[in-house]
Amino acid sequence: MTVTEQFATREAVRPAPAAQATVTDAAARPRPVGPGPLAVLADAGLEVPVLGGGFVRHVNLDVAASAPALEVVAQQVTRVLPYYASVHRGSGYPSQLSTSLVEDARLAVARHVGARDDDLVVFTRNTTDALNLLAGAVPGDTVVLDLEHHANLLPWRSRRLVEGRATIAATLEALDAELARTPAALLSVTGASNVTGEVLPIDRLAEIAHAHGARIAVDAAQLLPHRRVDVAASGIDYLAFSGHKAYAPFGAGALVGRADWLDAAPAYLAGGGAVDAVRVDGVDWKHGVERHEAGTPNVIGAVALARALAELERLGDDARHDHEQALTRRLHEGLAAQRGVRVLSGFGDEQGDGLGDRLGIATIELERGSVGLLAAALGAEHGISVRAGRFCAHPFFERTATRANGLRASLGAGSSADDVDRFLDALATLIADGPAHAYDRSPEGWCPRVDDRPRPDFAADFALA
Ligand code: ALA
Repeated sequence: MTVTEQFATREAVRPAPAAQATVTDAAARPRPVGPGPLAVLADAGLEVPVLGGGFVRHVNLDVAASAPALEVVAQQVTRVLPYYASVHRGSGYPSQLSTSLVEDARLAVARHVGARDDDLVVFTRNTTDALNLLAGAVPGDTVVLDLEHHANLLPWRSRRLVEGRATIAATLEALDAELARTPAALLSVTGASNVTGEVLPIDRLAEIAHAHGARIAVDAAQLLPHRRVDVAASGIDYLAFSGHKAYAPFGAGALVGRADWLDAAPAYLAGGGAVDAVRVDGVDWKHGVERHEAGTPNVIGAVALARALAELERLGDDARHDHEQALTRRLHEGLAAQRGVRVLSGFGDEQGDGLGDRLGIATIELERGSVGLLAAALGAEHGISVRAGRFCAHPFFERTATRANGLRASLGAGSSADDVDRFLDALATLIADGPAHAYDRSPEGWCPRVDDRPRPDFAADFALA
């Protein structure tokens, strides 16, 4: 019986391996990559339980979904919490300090992304929230590519979708032709695919949009945590991103961009703080960021986001880039050596190393067998976190994949060569021998038939509450 048939039977096929198989000879592997410049993460050294008892060091290769908090971010949040108080309203010292922390965070975000002096920085919950806010302000059609995350497909009220072509150059030509054929108000594109990690040429896309009288919005949810984005220099009109993917998982994201559309749009949230005056017969809405930030803002989220971006700056763009690129090559070379595995690509734009310009993201599909079961076994038996599915990018996934679902490994500046090697070794073991335990498929996905992994004490506290 082949591995993938064993996966399909959902049976436990053998006890946990004593030693994990390797795909490629260790000597054939690239030279070791040192610890990442973001070695100090709040989850550093985290151990997680595995089936059958025992703990292993957690390997987080699901960074594209949510990145772990930086230690300095967690420390900053702990320092701010005693002062946490009402924002823009209170007369006390903690309230005034909280207000200034939010406004300082706004300035820090603006500076980090190279915003123009008159751009707005609206704090949102995440990228999805930011793009939904912008969608309410666009005075016309929005052109998008089929490789977008659903957050950049679904919000637009009048959307025109352009299919990606075989190469990025051909895709740019298709976008150019679409904007020439019928004017649009906005071109909204991802900075990097959350499925393949392929990076798009933002500067060139901005030129194309502007040449046709359109503005450009960039979904930088994936790009911004890994590459420096410069709004003004790149000609970006609107930038949306999330703190939780940028090592600040405290619930804040941002929309940065031109004020005129946002000032002309209805308030994104109607409520206190968004108005100058409310009368029985009418409302005077504010302009600027307050128009769209009704209610008490997320002070901790804004502070955490600003602190994370400052730390990324301190660590340096080149150091992060070099480290992540070395790990990305290691990951892709290791995957290329695995039998029965295909790595997804949206475009055929291969550069010298055959990868094109990619972030540390690789999505694979199996020739046979279930990636959902594979992901469950990686987590439950090997302590390795990945994501299986279609990654909220269904049109792109359907164009690039041959199977119903893929398995994504994604890394960041806190990842190590050992993380990549643990994943490659566990993948090889599971593909060769199948999982060591039995799993059942439920509507929520694959789950161990008997899950004896303990939960930490603080999780038990919730149950008592
Ligand atoms: N957008 C996130 C992802 O790609 C959640 O996984």
